[in-house]
Amino acid sequence: MGTFKFPLSMLLLFLLLNIFLCSAEVLYLPVTKDASTMQYITEVSQRTPLIPIKLLVHLGGRSLWVDCNNSTSYKSSTYKPAVCNSTQCSISRSHGCGDCKFRPQLQPGCNNNTCYIWGENPLINTYIDHAEVAEDVLIIGSTPGVRVNWPRFIFTCLIDPSMVRLLADGVTGAAGFGHESLISIPNQLALDPRFTRKFGMCLSSSTSSRGVIFIGSGPYYAYNPKKIDISKDLVYTKLITNKRAFLLSDEYYFQISSIRIAGQDVPLNKTLLSINNKQNGIGGTKISTAIPFTILHSTFYDAVRTAFIKALPKNVTLVEPPPMSQFRTCFSSENIKSTNVGPDVPAIDIVLYKTSAFWRIYGTNSMVQVSKEVMCLAFVGQDQTWGSSIVIGGHQLEENLLVFDLPGKKIGFSSSLKLQQTSCSKYDDTIMD
Ligand SMILES: *[C@@H]1O[C@H](CO)[C@@H](O)[C@H](O)[C@H]1NC(C)=O
Ligand SMILES: *[C@@H]1O[C@H](CO)[C@@H](O)[C@H](O)[C@H]1NC(C)=O
Ligand SMILES: *[C@@H]1O[C@H](CO)[C@@H](O)[C@H](O)[C@H]1NC(C)=O
Ligand SMILES: *[C@@H]1O[C@H](CO)[C@@H](O)[C@H](O)[C@H]1NC(C)=O
Ligand SMILES: *[C@@H]1O[C@H](CO)[C@@H](O)[C@H](O)[C@H]1NC(C)=O
Ligand SMILES: *[C@@H]1O[C@H](CO)[C@@H](O)[C@H](O)[C@H]1NC(C)=O
Repeated sequence: MGTFKFPLSMLLLFLLLNIFLCSAEVLYLPVTKDASTMQYITEVSQRTPLIPIKLLVHLGGRSLWVDCNNSTSYKSSTYKPAVCNSTQCSISRSHGCGDCKFRPQLQPGCNNNTCYIWGENPLINTYIDHAEVAEDVLIIGSTPGVRVNWPRFIFTCLIDPSMVRLLADGVTGAAGFGHESLISIPNQLALDPRFTRKFGMCLSSSTSSRGVIFIGSGPYYAYNPKKIDISKDLVYTKLITNKRAFLLSDEYYFQISSIRIAGQDVPLNKTLLSINNKQNGIGGTKISTAIPFTILHSTFYDAVRTAFIKALPKNVTLVEPPPMSQFRTCFSSENIKSTNVGPDVPAIDIVLYKTSAFWRIYGTNSMVQVSKEVMCLAFVGQDQTWGSSIVIGGHQLEENLLVFDLPGKKIGFSSSLKLQQTSCSKYDDTIMD
């Protein structure tokens, strides 16, 4: 056998190139908006034999979890529950360990000598303390990005039937994108050197064309029809961990300094804008993919409503909200013109750490057409005494790119991609109409 001597400098160059090329990868995870529930749904393949599974996108979720209630529905020859005190248990920061107590026979989700973590259904704000930690084959990613085959992806298997409540038809679990948990999707995928702990979320407003979650350092491209990097020119603010909100520490919080409507500050109780560390982390602002419309503390809602109405031209008339509607502020669409960023209404600025750093919400994200003649302010006022003062929901996030940079501990906002003549579904030019 001969030996082959590779010059050291060449080797270094090769390694550097390799690292450079590898770390530039982006994984695309398509996200569909379910028409009847308005839930954001993604799909991965799991198990042996492989089957496609649909999962609710749960931005602040700690793991990927699937429903294992029915003992015959989880079939896989490669399912491995995490044995007590194993590395898998410590990586998932399990809080308990034990035998199967809830079923007469062992099954996926109920095994002996296995550790568990908290399971969560964000649609009903319900938690169970017995989510079995396990490993199985996972294939994730789609065109035009990379596809990853993960032979031992750590996830959780839940046997409590209440955990599937309100999930859209055919959806059997949730995909957690939390920032603290080491087994959340972005944190676990980052064990692959091609990715970084950074992802971009671009939810489509349409139920017929898919949006996308980009995983990896970027750039994140969309077509208009020219290929553009939509992750440039974002406004960033600090990502806050709410350590006091026990089960919510994976949720994405950030600090708002004020809300501006048509350039004027809306009077808000500043105390409620911050997380209250003396009272279990209530207050503050978080982002949720599990609610369709942003929820505002009722006093915030009233102030925003008043300022918004005041800033509208006098010929725009208030009308009664439709019966049973969750919206309280509706207008006749008659005198509201339409622009490339939706109905021509006052812009709502979410002001971040300084007055010049803000996320602008245009009519396309602040209004919702409820009938041919009526459109409503797409925010919901709610008693948030024991919760976050503001929960940013789906309608306000759609057709915006949000970047979650976990090592940098920051969140970036693009504002409406309509300003760049593109949208969240134009990430793949091979499926464009
Ligand atoms: C949960 O499993 C039990 C027992 O297998 C079954 O009777 C029940 O219908 C299941 N519930 C759901 C929601 O699948
Ligand atoms: C369990 O799941 C299997 C396969 O999905 C299905 O055929 C069966 O009816 C389910 N049983 C119950 C009790 O829900
Ligand atoms: C395993 O972990 C449990 C807590 O999860 C601990 O009480 C126990 O002592 C550990 N056992 C061993 C053998 O390390
Ligand atoms: C599982 O644990 C239970 C209770 O600790 C025990 O009765 C049962 O025999 C165990 N099953 C197996 C297959 O080891
Ligand atoms: C602001 O909210 C806090 C917390 O609910 C409350 O204690 C305080 O009285 C409020 N301040 C004003 C001026 O309303
Ligand atoms: C409504 O009022 C605004 C501002 O006063 C004006 O620009 C607009 O043309 C009016 N619209 C109609 C349909 O009269």
